[in-house]
Amino acid sequence: MSESKIETAKLTFQGKEIELPVHVGSECEVGIDITQLRSKTGAITSDSGYGNTGSCSSAITFIDGEKGILRYRGYPIEELAEKSTFTEVAYLLIYGNLPKKEELKKFNYELRHHSLLHEDMKKFFEGYPPTAHPMGMLSSMVSSLSAFYPEVGKNVDLELNMIRLIAKLNTIAAFSYKKSIGQPYIYPRNVLSYAADFLHMMFAVPSEEYEVPKVMEDALDLLLILHADHEQNCSTSTVRMVGSSEANLFASISAGICALWGPLHGGANQQVITMLETIKNDGGNYKKYVDMAKDKESKFKLMGFGHRVYKNFDPRAKILKASADKVLVQLGMNDPLLEIAKNLEEAALKDSFFVERKLYPNVDFYSGIIYRAMGIPTNMFTVMFALGRLPGWIAQWKEMKETPGARIYRPRQIYIGETKRSYVPIDNRK
Ligand code: CMC
Repeated sequence: MSESKIETAKLTFQGKEIELPVHVGSECEVGIDITQLRSKTGAITSDSGYGNTGSCSSAITFIDGEKGILRYRGYPIEELAEKSTFTEVAYLLIYGNLPKKEELKKFNYELRHHSLLHEDMKKFFEGYPPTAHPMGMLSSMVSSLSAFYPEVGKNVDLELNMIRLIAKLNTIAAFSYKKSIGQPYIYPRNVLSYAADFLHMMFAVPSEEYEVPKVMEDALDLLLILHADHEQNCSTSTVRMVGSSEANLFASISAGICALWGPLHGGANQQVITMLETIKNDGGNYKKYVDMAKDKESKFKLMGFGHRVYKNFDPRAKILKASADKVLVQLGMNDPLLEIAKNLEEAALKDSFFVERKLYPNVDFYSGIIYRAMGIPTNMFTVMFALGRLPGWIAQWKEMKETPGARIYRPRQIYIGETKRSYVPIDNRK
């Protein structure tokens, strides 16, 4: 599918009318093309937070925030969540179509085959203090992969580096956890699925047998699918931004990991649990926190609520709410935080402040409850998000590289600083 141009938009500025081309996407979203705006009028557009700016055309993910729709390469997230696997979704995102049997077999083999880290990388982990946040380690280790698999010369196998990255991020993530608790690293077992292998590397110890519970493997696979792509969000735009300078794949993804870390983005899943624990320790008085979130003076936000694009239920949150219920029952757990989360959601969805602003639970609201039930520590939650988002970042990076005429990302600004003034020698300064 490609975009089409059907009409033009007219803009009148300082008495002069100009015509701007209009691009229409395959789902009929409309973008006014302003690439000629500055040369024709001398003006630029101003759009804080890029809320109305289309930075690219993309054929990977479609979101209709008003209707709560999310599709990867045209496939509804609900169908993929129910019927697919994470590695199949990764293939779909990166190569554009669902794989045939042999293609998936080969892809899975490659992903398993490249899961080991170079032994020298263990020395990098050793240099970190035990208190280091695993997101910092994750980002540095991914950047360090560029030293082991450099993109030099013409014969760089980019496809292989993409596979290596997905295969090794699993191992890096689990190693960063083992480092933080002072346990020996557990090496990958290539007979296991991607999700099962991660859980094995996280929870196995050399002195004991460990079998990954199927319910945990399935729950993790689902979480990874739901996080796999989300079009031009902050971290994905960062990956494209860094990649647009022709920085290598590892450097671009490492930057994306840093962008994801923030509490307004992927870091929110960690903050949700912190918030729910605070409410629990405060006697479970969730209404007080709904009131605090409405009070602008308090600077408190309901973490896991609200979204730039969704003005309706985040379809991922719906799936995860149901999954949280199921996983906790299957694991025989009763987490009081799930009850608090449901009460908080119900209270917020009835409140005019949240209703008027169309604030609904997002993907991060229930994911933490499932991670907790699996025994994954809170500071690893954003790492889990990164593991899931990796195929999306790679697909977007690849698409950008393959777009004819792609240019370096370089926004402009409206300068509001001092106008020209002369240098004052230090002794004469007042
Ligand atoms: N709690 C209370 N008020 C909120 C919240 C919230 N979680 N989110 C937005 N609002 C209010 C906000 O104060 C503003 O009110 P007003 O119109 O009176 O000024 C209005 O709703 C619009 O919000 P905004 O901040 O202009 O929206 P945004 O698109 O710039 O920010 C957001 C989106 C996700 C950063 C924001 O909703 C937020 O900070 N949520 C909490 C953090 C969070 O859960 N982040 C995870 C996002 S989903 C996963 C991902 O993709 O990373």
